[in-house]
Amino acid sequence: MKKKITIAIDGHSACGKSTLAKGLAKALSYRYVDSGAMYRGATLYALENDCFEKELDEAKFIHILDDFQLDFKIISGINSLFLNGENVENEIRQPHIAERVSKVARIKKVRRKMVAQQKKWGKNGGIVMDGRDIGSVVFPDAELKLFVTASVDVRTQRRLNELKNNGVTQNFDEVKNNLSERDYLDSTRKESPLIQVEDAIVLDNSELSIEEQLDWALAKVNEILNTPPR
Ligand code: DC
Repeated sequence: MKKKITIAIDGHSACGKSTLAKGLAKALSYRYVDSGAMYRGATLYALENDCFEKELDEAKFIHILDDFQLDFKIISGINSLFLNGENVENEIRQPHIAERVSKVARIKKVRRKMVAQQKKWGKNGGIVMDGRDIGSVVFPDAELKLFVTASVDVRTQRRLNELKNNGVTQNFDEVKNNLSERDYLDSTRKESPLIQVEDAIVLDNSELSIEEQLDWALAKVNEILNTPPR
């Protein structure tokens, strides 16, 4: 049997890493985990439980941290997040979640809960996970680590298209400001900031189509799979 590797994909918001991760998982028949969806799910739980006034009430949220479970299921071909058994895939993509998620994702205890679950899902390999701390914290021993990047204007346009497809109307500047703010918060926070680890391969996909970036990454996977173990 062919060995099943672990693929860690990190990068800035809306750089296309989820598209790449999903494509790889499908082509390889691996499990796909969108770790950003998990932080979005935690944010929704905090909102539903009145943990946000203007700011996040961290102590209140930490108190209820053990009361929610996250899972993924494929529903009508879409990888969907379930929060305590309820499909919240559509809701977690809305702007009110995007505006608050960085505040939840910077809390150490929240990250600990998410990372423990992510490691459990990945313990036997055969997984593609995308996020901000996958190559650095979740799977530091992953056989393939990619750091995906694209210009902020390209990323804004991609996110606008995605929102439009989901029926959400926002203008270019609103989306660009949200992405830039999250890039800043994600890269400068104390707990597991977004970093490019030394052994990650950088992929700037500003000029690449979805198919081109998938082919590029599959070639990297095949190189690893065809390298005999030492
Ligand atoms: O990938 P995304 O935009 O859906 O992620 C939502 C937020 O979650 C993002 O602003 C940063 C945070 N995040 C994180 O801190 N660590 C991860 N592994 C994934 C996402």
